[in-house]
Amino acid sequence: MILIIYAHPYPQHSHANKRMLEHIGTLEGIEVRSLYELYPDFTIDTAAEQAALERADLVVWQHPMQWYSTPPLMKLWIDKVLAHGWAYGHGAHALKGKSLLWAVTTGGGDRHFDIGSHPGFDVLAQPLQATALYCGMKWLPPFAMHCTFICDDETLQAQARHYRQRLLDWQEASHG
Ligand SMILES: Cc1cc2nc3c(=O)[nH]c(=O)nc-3n(C[C@H](O)[C@H](O)[C@H](O)COP(=O)(O)O)c2cc1C
Repeated sequence: MILIIYAHPYPQHSHANKRMLEHIGTLEGIEVRSLYELYPDFTIDTAAEQAALERADLVVWQHPMQWYSTPPLMKLWIDKVLAHGWAYGHGAHALKGKSLLWAVTTGGGDRHFDIGSHPGFDVLAQPLQATALYCGMKWLPPFAMHCTFICDDETLQAQARHYRQRLLDWQEASHG
């Protein structure tokens, strides 16, 4: 099962993430949890989130980049759900062996993230990658949709098809 943890503060105003979700909507074996719709008051049901994670083989953290990081509810989700004694710590292995895909949309183009005037994209990924590895998860190469401010809808749709293909490829590989 693929679990999409989706954190968009204004899902109704999304273009890029909305297209991504539309394209994967027809796949089987996918559960999408839209955090800002589930928890508008930021009171996260930790037990429900952990139960969803236990069902998953691949976990996807999908969100728009905000100030080079995640939206705040995504960060709170990590803080609350990846709890000591469950996700990490002595004898805790609930997430061990599961795969983690970071699927992020950005306003900036890929050159915006070149090392130099801005931190590189790989550098920005490090806190999430470290979190996944600390919990014993397999970090997959991230999926990034860049330039979302200036993309026309055709380009967004093409990128969303790539996203769908990434998930399909993973399903095929994991089912042998
Ligand atoms: C508060 C805020 C902060 C943002 N910070 C960044 C950023 O640091 N880097 C970047 O490339 N885009 C940034 N953006 C642009 C969003 O990532 C972009 O609008 C989003 O990925 C588009 O996806 P959507 O159409 O699903 O909303 C920011 C947008 C907002 C609202």
